[in-house]
Parts: sequence; C-alpha cells; structure tokens
Amino acid sequence: MEIFDLIVIGGGPGGYLCAERAAEKKLSVALFEEKSLGGTCLNEGCIPTKALLNSAKLYRHAKDSGVFGVGAADVTYDHEKAVARKDAVVKSLVSGVAATMRRHKVRVINARAKAAGRSDGAFKVEAQGETFLAKRLCIASGSETAVPPIPGLKEALKCGRVLTNREILDLKGLPASLTVIGGGVIGLEMAYYFSSVGVDVTVLELLDKIAGGTDTDVSNALLAECAGRGMAFHLSSRVLEVTEDAVIFENKDGRQETRSALVLLSAGRRAKTEGLGLETLGIEQARGAIITDKHLCTNAAGVYAVGDCNGRLMLAHTAYREAEVAVNHMLGIKDEMRYEHIPAVIYTDPEAAGVGETKQSAQEKGFDVREITVPMQYAGRYAAETEKGSGFCKLVLETRTKRLLGLHLLGPYASEMILAAELMLDTRLPYERLQRLVFPHPTVGEVIRETLFKI
Ligand code: NAI
Repeated sequence: MEIFDLIVIGGGPGGYLCAERAAEKKLSVALFEEKSLGGTCLNEGCIPTKALLNSAKLYRHAKDSGVFGVGAADVTYDHEKAVARKDAVVKSLVSGVAATMRRHKVRVINARAKAAGRSDGAFKVEAQGETFLAKRLCIASGSETAVPPIPGLKEALKCGRVLTNREILDLKGLPASLTVIGGGVIGLEMAYYFSSVGVDVTVLELLDKIAGGTDTDVSNALLAECAGRGMAFHLSSRVLEVTEDAVIFENKDGRQETRSALVLLSAGRRAKTEGLGLETLGIEQARGAIITDKHLCTNAAGVYAVGDCNGRLMLAHTAYREAEVAVNHMLGIKDEMRYEHIPAVIYTDPEAAGVGETKQSAQEKGFDVREITVPMQYAGRYAAETEKGSGFCKLVLETRTKRLLGLHLLGPYASEMILAAELMLDTRLPYERLQRLVFPHPTVGEVIRETLFKI
C-alpha cells in the first residue's frame, strides 16, 4: 500500500496551502475534504461575504452620491442577483483551488477522514471504508459556529428561524428585519450588509463594546457610523431566551425583547475536532482546540494542526502562514510562527483594520504607552473623496523608546493600508527611518505619514 509523505485532513486555506507547499517540495500528498475545497473562507466566509458587501456598498454609494454631483433616480437592489454573483465568484475560486491541487499532483479525496492510530510507524487514516497511510499528518479541520446554551436556540436553529453565517449567505429574499446575536466580526459585517440593503437590523452584544479586541476608539467610531446608518445596538446585553417570535435579552434597563423575521447567530466559533479520531493518536486539546507549538506541531511527533482547529487566531491569513511554517518544519527548514503582528480587518464601510497592540493589550503586557491619533481628513485624497467621514489613524507607541507597538485605522482602504503598518512593526524600523519613506500623493495612506510626524 502507498505510504504518502503527508496526509492533510481539511481543504480550507490551512489545509490546501499545506498540501500545495508540501507538494511543491516534492512530498507526496493526499488531501481529504468532506464538503467543498476552500473551506469556510471560500464557501461560507471571507469570499462570499466580500462579494455581497461590495454589492451593498455599490448600492449605498449609488443612492448617497448626490453630494458628489451624481444623480441616480430609482436605484434598486436585487439581492438574488447579488447572491447569484457571489455564488459564481465562489465557484470560480473553488475550481481554482482544485486546479492548483491537480497541477501539484495532490491526491484530493472528497470524503470525511478519521485518524485511526498507527501501523508500522505510519499514521492510519480511514475514509469511505478504506485505509490510507502517511508518514506525517496535518489536521486542518477548521471551526464551526459556537452555539451558546441559550434556551430555545437549538430548536430555533433547527427550524431555520435562527441562521448561522452559512445559511444567511444563501437567503432567497431579504427579511424585513434581522436580529444579530453577537456584535463581533461576523455580526458586524452581516449587520452592515443587511442594513445597507434596507433590512431593519438590531445587534445584541454581551460586552460593552462591539468588535471585541478591536481598539476601543475604532470600535466606538464604528458603532457611531453604524448607528448613524440606522442599525440598533444593545450593548452589555445578555440573551436569555429565543422564542418562536422574539429574542429575549437583559441589560441594565431590565428584561427586553426584539421581534424580527430572522435571527443570525454570530456569537463566536469553536474548533472543529470531534469525530476525527484524534484520541487514537493521543493528541492533546484544550477546550476542544488542538494544542500546537510555534512550529504547529502537536504533542504527537509527525502530527501538525493548522488553521482554526488549533484555536489560536481564527483567520484565513493566519492559517496560510501556519501551513507554511508546518511544511517548513516537516522539511527541516528553520522557521517559526509569530502571532504578534497579524492584521485584523472588518470589512464594513468604513473599514476597520488594526495590527499589533492596542493601548489596553500593551498595558496588560506591562508597557508604558502613548497614543497618537490623526484624522484622515489630513490626507488630501480622503478629503476629496469622503463626505463627513469619521476616519482616523492611531499609533500606539512605547513611551520611553518610541517603538511602534500597534497601528489602527478606520476608513476607506484600511484593509489594504494595514499591510504597510504590519511591515513597519515587523521590521522594527525606528520611526525616524519610517519618516523618510515617500508615500504616494494623494493617497489616504498619507495619514500614516502624518501620524509618524506627530511622534
Ligand atoms: P467574534 O468572537 O468575533 O464575536 C462574537 C461576539 O459575540 C463577541 O463580541 C461576544 O462578546 C458576543 N457574544 C457571545 N455570546 C453572546 C451572547 N450570548 N449574546 C450576545 N453576544 C454574545 O466571533 P464571530 O463574529 O462569530 O466570528 C468568528 C470568527 O470568524 C472570528 O475569529 C473572526 O475573526 C472570524 N472572522 C473574520 C472575519 C474577518 O477577518 N473580516 C470575518 C468574519 C469572521
């Protein structure tokens, strides 16, 4: 029986890139995927949401462009057409991944796989009643929607009154109203989409701020922008029950309820590790997530875990890098995973993006920090293109050394600009050196230059 150099379980960004990189280095690779190649990111996450969000943004801009001299009467929105386009984009990218696997001679097996211990030093994997063997194993099984123990929630999910990020992307029509449980990244992006296309949206959030670990000023300004567009927010609100026609919650004003046609559950995700046979290899987990070290090795030699299933940072771009680090470890190439400068983006309009420490996280690590904030209005292009925008750039610095610890943005193109900030942090270049960079003019990114000159 063939013994593969590597078996990868899971065909999302972590899994398919692991397979691709390993195959590029001439390892023989089998990749198991039970659903569709591309995983959550391509099929029900990053890509489809960006397609829909762009449709919503174009619609809103078309409606609100009078001040720019654009008169557009009878602007309409066709949700089904936007969904059809989204589906076409997903299909094309998924077939692109399949083609890449073929090109690299990765054997893709469309089946649910399960580890089944070892045999003569090789790892055994079972799928469709067959046994496969490999010298190494990489688990890239992803994550799934976390379902908090709220009375009535499971039943409501079953009957389709409460949806997750997966089902909500395929709605045939628009609901009149939507309650969103959880004001994190998924909740905000979906709230932005549905609200922009005319749905009455209410967001319930347990914490006293939206967007979790995001810089507090960015989070507050984003909340103000979203509220200004008509979305309703209830912060510090605990959901008590989901009934047939309402979501009951409690906050400082007491017990309340929202009634809506549909409910979205976006209260976090959890690593998907059940039923993978991990116990047959003695793989250690913490709260359902596989424990990994800086090389993405698990406690079982030769077994790696990349992407959401290790519960570190549930982001596709983290999974990509983890996959490369894991393959480098397999090949004996010196490399290690660093999590401190991984950018985070929320694709609302305006966009929010950040990298490195916030003031709060830096202080928790014992840094004495200073913040410098500059409005985006300082950048000529922003002023030229934006009406009444609340965009800004914030630097977090270590007070004594003036070392850059973090950078946070709210505004257009923030998702594209944040890479520059990541480079600044990762290269640890002193601010005097960064001040000598020439930024193209006019660009919104010049706000970063303006901020550097306030140090
Ligand atoms: P999240 O962790 O970002 O947000 C969940 C929110 O729900 C938190 O603010 C939490 O306080 C709140 N919450 C939890 N239980 C609650 C309850 N019972 N009632 C009210 N609020 C409650 O998780 P989310 O939005 O589900 O996203 C999951 C993962 O997907 C995240 O790791 C995220 O980074 C990733 N993702 C990334 C995107 C991006 O990079 N643009 C887009 C979408 C998802």
